[in-house]
Amino acid sequence: ASTLGAAAAQSGRYFGTAISAGRLGDSQYTTIASREFNMVTAENEMKIDATEPNRGQFNFTNGDRVYNWAVQNGKRVRGHTLAWHGQQPGWMQSLSGSSLRQAMIDHINGVMSHYKGKIYAWDVVNEAFADGNSGGRRDSNLQRTGNDWIEVAFRTARAADPAAKLCYNDYNIDNWTWAKTQGVYNMVRDFKQRGVPIDCVGLQSHFNGNSPYNSNYRTTISSFAALGVDVQITELDIQGGSPQTYAAVTNDCLAVPRCAGITVWGVRDQDSWLGAGASPLLFNGGNKKPAYDAVLNALNAA
Ligand code: G3I
Repeated sequence: ASTLGAAAAQSGRYFGTAISAGRLGDSQYTTIASREFNMVTAENEMKIDATEPNRGQFNFTNGDRVYNWAVQNGKRVRGHTLAWHGQQPGWMQSLSGSSLRQAMIDHINGVMSHYKGKIYAWDVVNEAFADGNSGGRRDSNLQRTGNDWIEVAFRTARAADPAAKLCYNDYNIDNWTWAKTQGVYNMVRDFKQRGVPIDCVGLQSHFNGNSPYNSNYRTTISSFAALGVDVQITELDIQGGSPQTYAAVTNDCLAVPRCAGITVWGVRDQDSWLGAGASPLLFNGGNKKPAYDAVLNALNAA
């Protein structure tokens, strides 16, 4: 196959990208995105600050822009993200306790009902675990509402849209030996044992000098999969854009049947949150980079 999406589809997987509503007028961007990818994540437009700028007043203008572009171009959509300490609107940052807990539940219901039946998978909870060696939860206003906030979010999400896969999504849970990875693993195992609804784990996979790709990544993917959840690589970028590392990530996903697909966090280097200088993505302007060829070849060899 000659595109990333078609090559991934040969093994029943998808290959996606983050899309930014503000770039949909750039024809180089939309030409590449429409041709190469078959899954879309809104980079910012379905986040809490974008979709509920005032409490109880939902705004789906930009989320729908990304959603409609994706569907009109034959792509599926991942929803990102419903419960997170980041990109909270000011009104939510100022809440605590039971009123914040209720606001989280209302937010999940409001956004998921708007997109009911239309989303392949939701990142229900994003980045809830602490960096460093504790393996425990990140301190946040949501965490301070009680340790059960994550399972409440997942139960709420399941009821709101039973058709969507429900993911826990985080960064720095790629290296199997890291405490954060083990913390998330233990939570997912506990959820599966107790029947808390969870269908997938999103490995963001932002690789850089401080959190480099490690060959135990395949162990991480297969270990989560063995708990009975899909694994999705949700926000892949690799500082420096090493073709060898891109190929290794792709091959690690291909080696695990429940690794459902890969999403890169932007189309061209200039679109990356890291800046073009980091050279983290698969395209430079309109040109395919060596990392692109490495990924395509790996997908075609599977
Ligand atoms: O849209 C406003 C614009 O109106 C304003 O003038 C401008 C000035 O600062 O800011 C614009 O918003 C920015 C937004 O990106 C859109 O460009 C925000 O400041 C900026 O903080 C925001 O950054 C995003 C970041 O999440 C925020 O947390 C990045 O684009 C986005 O790539 C990044 O994505 C996250 C995932 O959601 C979760 N995992 C990590 C990943 C990378 O940080």
